[in-house]
Amino acid sequence: MEQLITRENVAEAVQAIQQKAPGFVPQVAIELGSGMGEMAAGIQDAVVIPYEDVPHMVPSTVQGHAGRFILGTLSGKRVICMQGRLHAYEGNSAQQIAFPVYVMRELGAPTLVVTNAAGGIEPSYQVGDVMLISDHINLQGMNPGVGVENGFGPRFYDMTHAYDPELRKLARDVAQRQGLGVHEGVYIGLLGPSFETPAEIRAFGIWGAQAVGMSTVQEVIAANQLGVRVLGVSLISNPAAGVCDEPLSIDDVIKAANVAAGNIWHLIEGVVAEL
Ligand code: HPA
Repeated sequence: MEQLITRENVAEAVQAIQQKAPGFVPQVAIELGSGMGEMAAGIQDAVVIPYEDVPHMVPSTVQGHAGRFILGTLSGKRVICMQGRLHAYEGNSAQQIAFPVYVMRELGAPTLVVTNAAGGIEPSYQVGDVMLISDHINLQGMNPGVGVENGFGPRFYDMTHAYDPELRKLARDVAQRQGLGVHEGVYIGLLGPSFETPAEIRAFGIWGAQAVGMSTVQEVIAANQLGVRVLGVSLISNPAAGVCDEPLSIDDVIKAANVAAGNIWHLIEGVVAEL
């Protein structure tokens, strides 16, 4: 297995970004999920860097994911935003998915906001609802720490507060002020690309998961090795398989995400303002 997450590789990527945005030290990193990429237009004084221009980054191949870093200002803070993430179902390794998390930390960002579109396992969740992720279950069968020790943090590390409780409280408070109702729940990350079967969804519900998706967990595992604080936000884009009788389609997922993305972005703006 190729060891991608090394001091040398991360330093080369950091250098390439710093060349395009000299002196830029991000205060927050943001990763935008399916159908939310357009929101990055709200970042001011943007410097756009396609993943292809950054050594060791793989391009995004997914509909609804542009595949570029956007560096600029949001709510008065310097942010680095991933417009489009990398997924396991594209054939990416855990280290390829997690690599940009190391890069954004080395650039200086102590906080990571991750967003995704997710299926609602919890029957009371409606399409368009927002769920703050309180914890996750990694069912992707991979972990970015597998391989030789990368030296970026402990070999074995705690995941008790994988999603920072204080950040979540801040997000709850901001949402309340904005009049946005939010759920809190457990996200279960699967490999995809097939959606789940109703039997799987029933099982995940018994395990304590409220939402299901095909992303996020690798990046959050990486962030925890680095001591980066994580806020995770899921947009409920569809009822999960079998929760209602409709067949699932990626077009519906992206459409729902497009419609509700504004709410999540407004929430993120509010949270970033107070970091
Ligand atoms: N399952 C898995 N991933 C998803 C879903 C889903 O129902 N909706 C959006 N991403």
